[in-house]
Order: sequence, then C-alpha cells, then structure tokens
Amino acid sequence: MPTNLRKYNLGKNNNWFWWPLFPLYPYGSRSTTFSEIVANQVWSFEQLQGLYYVAVPIRMTVLKVSKGLMLINPLPPTKDLITALRGLEKKYGPVVSIVLPTASGLEHKISMPAMARVFSKAILWVCPGQWSFPLSLPLSWLGFPAERTRTLLADGLPFKGSCDWISLGPIDIGLGRFQEIACYHKDSQSLVVTDALIGIESEPPQIFDLDPTPLLFHARETGDQLLNDSPDIRKKGWARLVLFASYLKPNKLKIPPINQVLKNSFKPGLRTIKSHFGIYPFKWEKGWELSANEIIGKEKPLIQVAPVIKRLVFPRAKIEFLRWLDELKSLSGMKRLIPAHYSAPIAFTKEDCIALRKKINFAEWSPSKNNWSFLDYLDGSLLKQGVVPKNPLEKFRD
Ligand SMILES: [Fe+2]
Repeated sequence: MPTNLRKYNLGKNNNWFWWPLFPLYPYGSRSTTFSEIVANQVWSFEQLQGLYYVAVPIRMTVLKVSKGLMLINPLPPTKDLITALRGLEKKYGPVVSIVLPTASGLEHKISMPAMARVFSKAILWVCPGQWSFPLSLPLSWLGFPAERTRTLLADGLPFKGSCDWISLGPIDIGLGRFQEIACYHKDSQSLVVTDALIGIESEPPQIFDLDPTPLLFHARETGDQLLNDSPDIRKKGWARLVLFASYLKPNKLKIPPINQVLKNSFKPGLRTIKSHFGIYPFKWEKGWELSANEIIGKEKPLIQVAPVIKRLVFPRAKIEFLRWLDELKSLSGMKRLIPAHYSAPIAFTKEDCIALRKKINFAEWSPSKNNWSFLDYLDGSLLKQGVVPKNPLEKFRD
C-alpha cells in the first residue's frame, strides 16, 4: 500500500461561496489535494474541514464505472476541483453518478446540490432516511433536483455489476437516523466508507503543507507563544487535533481561567486574525501524548471506529456494527479501505477485517473513563432527556 502517495495541490482557485450554509474552517477558501489511489480506477480529493482550527481531512472518492465516473461523498466544487474532474472526464468518461451514502453526515450532504448543478446530467443517489435540522425539509427544498435524485436500496443501486453496497444501520439517533452504505468497488478491490471506520497515522495529512497554521496554533502551550514551524511541531499539533476531533474534550485538556488567557493574549507578533490575537483558551496537562498514542498508529494508520461515532451513535448498537463487519469480511478479494476522513488508502483485507471485528468485540464498547468521560456525559444527558432512545435498533426492526 503506498504510504507516500503523491498528492497534488490543485491551485489557488479555491473559493466556495456557499460556506455560510455550514460555516466551518477554512470557510470560503477550500484548497484541495488530489491523488490517484489505484491507477485508472480510483481517485481521492481532499479538503480540510473543522472548527476553530480543529480541522481534519474530508474526502471525495471517484470511482471508474462502466459508463464513466461515480463520485462518492461530494466536496465543495471549487474551480480547481471542477477542473481536475473535467480532466478525469476527458480520459475516463463523464460523471454519471454522484452518491451521498450517509443519512446523517451533514458535512458530506452540504455540497451535493452544488455538485449536481456542475454535472447536470449525473444521477444523484442518496442514502435512505435523509433528514435536516432544526427543520426536516424535503430534499428538493434543500436543492436536490427531484427528477434525477434516487434513493439507494429503495430505487435500486448504481452499477451493481461493479459495486457491492453494504448498509450499516439504520440506527435511531433521536433527531433522525444514522445510516451509511459502504461501496465495495470490485475492479479496484477497494472498500469506500463514510464515517463508520477511519485510520489515523502520526504524520499530519499532506493537505496541511498548503497552510500548517492549525497544527502550529494547537502545538503551543500558551497564547503568548509564536506560531513556530518544524516537522516535530506539526506532528505535535496534529496529535492534539486528533484528540480534539476524536473526544471533543480530551481528558488531558483543561480550560484555563479567563484572566490567564487574556494575560497571554495580544502579545507582539500575535496581533493577527491568523493567530487569533493570541487568544488560546487551552492547557494541555502532562501525559496527553499517551492518550494520543491510543488512537494514532505509529508506522501505519490505526483503523478504528471514530470515538465520537462509537460513543454517540453506536453505544447501544454494537450488535449492528459487528453484523456490518461480518458482511464486509465476506467481500471477495478486498485489499484497501478508503474512508471519508483521515488517511486513505489503508491496507484492509478479509484477515484485517476479522482481526478488527475480534478487537472490537473483546474491547470495552462504551467506555466512560478518562478521554471518554465527556462523550459518556453527553450520551448520558441525551438519554436522560429522552433525545436518544434506549434501544436504537427497535424502530427499524421488521
Ligand atoms: Fe463525515
């Protein structure tokens, strides 16, 4: 599996005008990296997305199918991204399908209407049970063209000859449902998933080479420190971003008193928006690296269920997750995993899938201590208030 996969920065035409719809970093400026994952078969486009410099990669996967190209989990279609896709179309045929294989992942949903307008002949496929918050609006109101939008499973499945589609869920999560449908692309022996599985490695993703500010910002101890740069500083910042994104409030992270934060703010060299004027309301305690090591692979990406998903979506639905893994392990000739976040591609065979199932089955499924305590608190509060159900599988049982 290529670990030093060549990735290309697509350029500076990276404006995304619809960013206020889902105002996440890096807002209206979405730089993209592009790489060919499997020669003439699979391509990856990556952008960054996050809150307050806690940014992790989000990926669109492009698959070669019989009549052209299929996009899975569309990204904001900046000029650079469209130009690169037009280049692929010239060689491999038109974009014929755009797939949103998740019911709940708003970050994947938000770009679908804009991408549909760019590829005006493509058929759109969406996961069943789409919902929006605070109002559940019909897809056509959200910009999905009704005449060419189909629902996966209910209206069939795209390119069934070259792809197997494996559903995880539905799981009742109160406000709506969690469901995602993995795509196994037989020609390239690649399994494309959305949020259910991820692989995290210790090297920061290459997209940070375009602008390492989030890494440098979070690698500091106090707000009066300058945003210095070195490979080790970037790695340190990355490990902290991973802890933030995984646990929301990692155990070793404390919020210092406001007077202390202000005392360290507005120092010379830091009076810029880029450095948030030195406002840095975090204090990392000793030993934080050890907790990062639990979820970050040293030599290769560590495949896992993202802690947020595990603890807030599946805490009472382990059985469904294991069932899904059982389906995945029967896929013939599987070689690699391509999730919509963090590293890809990751070596992933039937044996790896069996080992992962075993590990998940025997480890504690809903931990509540240390790094997990905040997620446990959130889940407990939602359960107590009746927002999430006690039995999330009951509603969808036949
Ligand atoms: Fe996602």
